[in-house]
Amino acid sequence: HLSVKERIDMKRKAALVGGGQKRIDAQHKRGKLTARERVELLLDPESFVESDMFVEHRCSDFGMEQDRNKFPGDSVVTGRGRINGRLVYVFSQVQSCIMFVISCTFCFSQDFTVFGGSLSGAHAQKICKIMDQAMTVGAPVIGLNDSGGARIQEGVESLAGYADIFLRNVLASGVVPQISLIMGPCAGGAVYSPALTDFTFMVKDTSYLFITGPDVVKSVTNEDVTQEELGGAKTHTTVSGVAHHAFENDVDALLNMREFFNFLPLSNQDPSPIRACHDPSDRLVTSLDTIVPFETTKAYDMLDIIHAIVDERDFFEIMPSYAKNIVVGFARMNGRTVGIVGNQPKVASGCLDINSSVKGARFVRFCDAFNIPIITFVDVPGFLPGTAQEYGGIIRHGAKLLYAFAEATVPKITIITRKAYGGAYDVMSSKHLRGDVNYAWPSAEVAVMGAKGAVQIIFRGKENQAEAEAEYVEKFANPFPAAVRGFVDDIIEPATTRKKICRDLEVLASKKQVNPWKKHANIPL
Ligand code: COA
Repeated sequence: HLSVKERIDMKRKAALVGGGQKRIDAQHKRGKLTARERVELLLDPESFVESDMFVEHRCSDFGMEQDRNKFPGDSVVTGRGRINGRLVYVFSQVQSCIMFVISCTFCFSQDFTVFGGSLSGAHAQKICKIMDQAMTVGAPVIGLNDSGGARIQEGVESLAGYADIFLRNVLASGVVPQISLIMGPCAGGAVYSPALTDFTFMVKDTSYLFITGPDVVKSVTNEDVTQEELGGAKTHTTVSGVAHHAFENDVDALLNMREFFNFLPLSNQDPSPIRACHDPSDRLVTSLDTIVPFETTKAYDMLDIIHAIVDERDFFEIMPSYAKNIVVGFARMNGRTVGIVGNQPKVASGCLDINSSVKGARFVRFCDAFNIPIITFVDVPGFLPGTAQEYGGIIRHGAKLLYAFAEATVPKITIITRKAYGGAYDVMSSKHLRGDVNYAWPSAEVAVMGAKGAVQIIFRGKENQAEAEAEYVEKFANPFPAAVRGFVDDIIEPATTRKKICRDLEVLASKKQVNPWKKHANIPL
């Protein structure tokens, strides 16, 4: 007979070792950390406040009621903590900065050592509890996923638990940032919680996401595919676009998560953290004056422009390996978080296609939901032609990016570095979609299409094509047609771009714009 205090101590001790040392060793052998080790790394030291350590599953079938099948806390560790919650020194590439960020985050970490991290009714209840609290106080939710899916012994109770989480994911969407880090298996219905969150990150080689595993795939479609090929980090960050980034291992992923978190506001009611910045806001970037090649068909790297302009070259790219013809990610300008969108002339000449439109649209909507200003760099020759794109629904998908830019009410600054052709000109945060400040570099060309194509259409069969082409270039292949109509606010020297953006953002910080009342909008899906 143990006293209550002894029982409390015993349960706490038991909770700390999850499914026991043997299973912890097995987890380590796979190159994975345990649920608790992950929480420790993610959060500031000693900031973790755990909840529901005594919760146990309630299943009494298949011998689950026996004591040896009960684990205090069950198969998930939940609670709140801080990331950079006090003064810390961060050494970034150019100079050191001091960060003042007081932030609290709620997190859950599935414990693979307890029934393979499978989701019981109790497990789901624990996650729902912290999600509800996060919504109440306005703090992000980070989920560390490592689970064999629904707790098979619990049947529909487990499925109900998933739905309870999905509902909360949907209700929290646009209210608090939600981040999923996939650190082990995540299969079946379990995938839809990460899919509903704002960002899904994966760990290379040890994590996978799929609706049905390789065996089911084989029996239904007769395809031979490995787990890694079907739903590994490479697949989801390069082919499917389901995940936003892949990291080398658990430690790398969790440290990157802390970096990433520093860009985000705690909720849609809070501003993004401001970082004390030693990179002068009026820094001239003379390299930009010669970065755009004289030949209009020659490629250059939009990332070079982005790195040169943002604070301390610090750019956290989202989906760097997927739809590379558009670049999206977070950076800071004079210490404030901004979302960057840029066409990438290095890949498919920076054309917009289905995948890049969807990638861009989702990013723009996240920024708008969380009050993060958007800076757009434009060099786009149009939408990618072809049957694959038309049959795939480029009209519907391209409309998403257009829609996202148009509905966004955050400060929007656009810089046309070279081509802004056709409908794609309109889409890329143009003046007409309520761009606040739209600049053109002297190399900008705003036109319906390039000179060659245009002349072939309007002077078809006529002689003197070269002459007509020269006339077209003279008329349209420069920033003036847009500037004389006020469709760009100014033609600026590239070197001054950082200075101008920083100054504009200061003014736009007090921007207020409201869309007409509606129950909700109907973005083309
Ligand atoms: N429900 C209950 N227990 C589960 C489980 C689930 N969904 N998934 C795994 N477990 C248990 C296993 O019984 C095992 O228990 P033990 O430690 O007492 O032996 C433990 O978790 C580890 O599982 P194991 O199969 O040994 O690990 P693995 O790394 O070899 O394989 C999976 C991991 C996820 C691929 C495999 O466990 C699996 O296929 N699980 C079922 C997935 C599924 O179909 N879920 C339902 C769909 S939502």
